[in-house]
Amino acid sequence: MELPFSESYKMKVVESIQRSTREERVVWIKKAKYNLFNLRSNQVFVDLLTDSGTGAMSDKQWAAMMVGDESYAGASSYYKLKEAISDITGFEYFLPTHQGRAAENVLFSSLLKEGDVVPGNSHFDTTKGHIEFRKAHAIDCTIDEAFHTELEHPFKGNVDLNKLEAVLKKYPREKIPLIIITITCNSSGGQPVSIANMRAVKQMADQYGIPVFYDSARFAENAYFIKMREEEFRDKTIREIVREMFSHADGMTMSSKKDAIVNMGGFIGFRHKENFEKASTYNILFEGFITYGGMSGRDMNALAQGLYEGTDFNYLETRINQVAYLGNQLRDYGIPIQYPIGGHAIFVDAKRFLSNLPKEEYVAQTLGVELYIEGGVRGVEIGTLLADRDPDTRKNRYPDLELLRLAIPRRVYTNNHMDYVAAALINVFDRRNSITKGLRILKEAPILRHFTVELERI
Ligand code: F0G
Repeated sequence: MELPFSESYKMKVVESIQRSTREERVVWIKKAKYNLFNLRSNQVFVDLLTDSGTGAMSDKQWAAMMVGDESYAGASSYYKLKEAISDITGFEYFLPTHQGRAAENVLFSSLLKEGDVVPGNSHFDTTKGHIEFRKAHAIDCTIDEAFHTELEHPFKGNVDLNKLEAVLKKYPREKIPLIIITITCNSSGGQPVSIANMRAVKQMADQYGIPVFYDSARFAENAYFIKMREEEFRDKTIREIVREMFSHADGMTMSSKKDAIVNMGGFIGFRHKENFEKASTYNILFEGFITYGGMSGRDMNALAQGLYEGTDFNYLETRINQVAYLGNQLRDYGIPIQYPIGGHAIFVDAKRFLSNLPKEEYVAQTLGVELYIEGGVRGVEIGTLLADRDPDTRKNRYPDLELLRLAIPRRVYTNNHMDYVAAALINVFDRRNSITKGLRILKEAPILRHFTVELERI
């Protein structure tokens, strides 16, 4: 008998989670103004809101925390992290930050000005938020295939080179301070970018003299997909692939809360000393001195260890297999999800799931509310709420994809939990025709509204 696949770790510490009744959840979600961010965690049974900062650290990471060096300047924990970053990514210079958006804040403060444009592949919402906050514009150059959920394509995160070249030709060099490629591309479904595409983008960027940065929150999952799907790299190790990926970039921003499996932390990696020095001033201003920048010594130690664990093939195989395990159950039942199944999450195509609802009624958010009521499972909307209003016209932007994301925390849930989530979503699918009304906004913030928006049922 062939031995079945099995997880590459076992559990040493566990945490209780509480079931609730449908009646309780109906009350709680109404009180939360139909915003899943407003729920208390103990009102949630399986929490798939995000895979960010929600992973389980290993025994080695906890052990590393005990020997953190909390010196203000020049801590050994800083040097340990510096060594790990340079070893894994190849970037010689780095700045620690308290999380990914802080890295964006520091980097963009040093590079961006009003009226600039930043091309990329479906920028993540905080990235876009930081660009638009500076009255600059994020231009999406993702390949069209990414916007058709049922279409199979190995690298749906890829940049469309024609779209990119059109932007580089249209705007003068001084208006384009950088290109950002998000690996894997969260907004288009946790979809990877190929090395062939990274090479081509870099080549084009070099012709125009524009630096390329990677938004690298899920860089290791991207490397896993490259190993699985890009012929040239089949026999390379994950770490070799990671080095190759970053060799085509001038720098990176990192939310360490994802692929580095820590609960808090981030950094910016730089190839060039001038960029590092320019950003250092802002790091000191916003985050802290350059040898801790928003992180404690113990956190830097855990991060250094997490970078190695997150780029271990056996871990990544366990991780990606679990996401696929959930996705395949949904696919087998005919629930419309984004294909191929992404790295960190299942993206349910809410427009096709709730085809009765008009786009003005926040379709993916409505589906998220229904799934919560059904089973206490919390996902997150990646749709019209997240897409926000156009900064100039203030009109709702209706994105091509209206998705409910079910993000799987790393090393946290078992496949029994995945069965539970699948059953809850299947129950909602069975009663989808009875869901004929969505939600309307009562109150919203001028930027990044999805976090605090208040809604009511129509
Ligand atoms: N870039 C990407 C691709 C992200 O997914 C995130 C965060 C960030 C940057 C910002 O990092 O949260 O550490 O400040 N994504 C989380 C999510 C919030 O749920 O996908 P951060």
